[in-house]
Amino acid sequence: MIAPVRTAIFPVAGLGTRFLPATKATPKELLPVLDTPLIQYAIDEAQAAGIERMVFVSHPSKRAIERHVMDDARLRYELQSRGKSDLAEELAEAAFSRIDDDVVFTMQNEPLGLGHAVLCARDHVLPGAVAVILPDDLIRGEGCLGEMIDAYKRNNAGHMVATMTVPREETKKYGILSVLSQDGSVLLADGMVEKPDPADAPSLDAVVGRYVLDASIFEALETQTPGAGGEIQLTDAISRGAGTVGLAGFRFSGERFDCGSKAGMLKATLSLAEDDPECSEVLDEFTLSRGKALAA
Ligand code: G1P
Repeated sequence: MIAPVRTAIFPVAGLGTRFLPATKATPKELLPVLDTPLIQYAIDEAQAAGIERMVFVSHPSKRAIERHVMDDARLRYELQSRGKSDLAEELAEAAFSRIDDDVVFTMQNEPLGLGHAVLCARDHVLPGAVAVILPDDLIRGEGCLGEMIDAYKRNNAGHMVATMTVPREETKKYGILSVLSQDGSVLLADGMVEKPDPADAPSLDAVVGRYVLDASIFEALETQTPGAGGEIQLTDAISRGAGTVGLAGFRFSGERFDCGSKAGMLKATLSLAEDDPECSEVLDEFTLSRGKALAA
């Protein structure tokens, strides 16, 4: 029986250079898609997957993330005294309390890479495998992490990474899996490579920001030498575990949006707007007037 996955690590210390100037003063994880910051979608997904402890690996310049995630008694009081108790309650319900919830903030002071960020969480995780969620990959659908944890338990996987198929010219943007065989939505792999040139990519199965990792990942990260971009890559440490604990890819059922890019953010916004009564009307009007303008 594999122990349940109890901890989720959220690496949120990155500078967000791909989205400047929006991220100059605002952490990229707090950029909203409609009225909800990216980090909230990731937290909701982790909660739906039954995660007990959330570990945020942040940076001292990004304290605003903590302010969003944690309950704000002063704001609650202020709203209540203005007769907005419903709103106060709604916010309190979505936020974590220091007493009732199991939430840790730890700092990654230097930008040494995703692998290093995950290593920073080591002293704060519960026993067993851990989940890693990259909040700028917004995944709509059935709850990617929950789906993946089910597949992880069924397949006795050591490390498991969420994957999707990408066009060959895009392999340079992702970790790419070296696939041996496929069994339904699970891919058996013997390694992965960080951001290979299209000609060198071992497959077109790209890793997106959801991982379930055997606890041995921390030892591997401790001895991991810098890889692509001179950073300690999570991809390299996972790849080294393929021969010992095993490695699998998981083709999730939902749709992923790269919200670290302008185009991805727009697509995510449009996708959510379609399902929001207030916004879908605006979208329809816009599409209609664009159609008329093009026909004229
Ligand atoms: C990171 C990982 C990469 C993965 C990607 C998914 O890269 O290093 O392996 O494919 O996330 O979004 P980043 O986009 O942070 O450069």
